[in-house]
Amino acid sequence: MKHLLKLLDLTGEEILDILNLADQLKYEKKNGILHRRLEGKSLGMIFQKSSTRTRISFEAGMFQLGGQALYLNATDMQIKRGEPVEDTARVLSRYIDGIMIRTFDQSEVEALAEYGDIPVINGLTDVCHPCQVLADLMTVREYKGALEGLKMCYIGDGNNMTNSLIVGGLKTGMSVSVACPEGYDPDPTILDFAKDFPEFALCRDPMEAAQGADVIFTDVWASMGQEAEMEKRRAAFEGIYQVNTELLSVANDDCLVQHCLPAHRGEEITAEVFESHSAEIFEEAENRLHAQKAVMVMLME
Ligand code: CP
Ligand code: NVA
Repeated sequence: MKHLLKLLDLTGEEILDILNLADQLKYEKKNGILHRRLEGKSLGMIFQKSSTRTRISFEAGMFQLGGQALYLNATDMQIKRGEPVEDTARVLSRYIDGIMIRTFDQSEVEALAEYGDIPVINGLTDVCHPCQVLADLMTVREYKGALEGLKMCYIGDGNNMTNSLIVGGLKTGMSVSVACPEGYDPDPTILDFAKDFPEFALCRDPMEAAQGADVIFTDVWASMGQEAEMEKRRAAFEGIYQVNTELLSVANDDCLVQHCLPAHRGEEITAEVFESHSAEIFEEAENRLHAQKAVMVMLME
């Protein structure tokens, strides 16, 4: 593994290797065992979109590994004035040891990896969010003991989270059921990947998708960059695509609820469900730190 551009590039075994290392790093962190495995190394973090979790977990994670993280707001870089990403990649490769980027277009992330000669980590694009889904799989495994054979359900917009969850779930042996409104399906490349898995299902009815689920995921109805579509989207999602107690009544008794955050209570999830599952939701947020530290160690050590 040279980069983390999207989960489609990884084998199930590579995903599990990351989760195993993440578990070990979490254990070490909780027990005060120092692991300065990236001493003297620098990670540049380019942000074209807002972030709370991604920025802070990468920054703190890099510090805990003995390295430093540089927050690079794209607005302050020459990228914003038209310097090609291909040139940015070649310049950064001469200063630092890895790049994390959060942006709109996946092709920008792929170009950074192609033109630079340091590892590139995708911190979210319009089509995927691999770091988040590694933390999600880590959390589900922590609660359930194993991933293989579990049923993952996703309710809502077929967005970056859905795309990565489908790939991460199927590659680690889970069955995956997704309910999205018409016109809001996951990316066609992901549906093409999933079509070979009999344990994948895409439907319109959340109650059907949640039947017998071991973990239910959801995400916002309008992602970053789609703010202007909010009212149109509300009309398509409201009253149907919500994780609420009625939906949970058809899932397994000990069904987990996961949300990448930020959450919009009263939209994709009720406040009641959010609060009654807050332990596992905030464990999921914490696991961003451990999972990304594992990715950085694997790519940059
Ligand atoms: N879940 C997630 O990526 O959060 P941020 O947008 O706060 O980084
Ligand atoms: N789908 C959301 C995820 C945020 C972490 C977005 O792209 O805004």
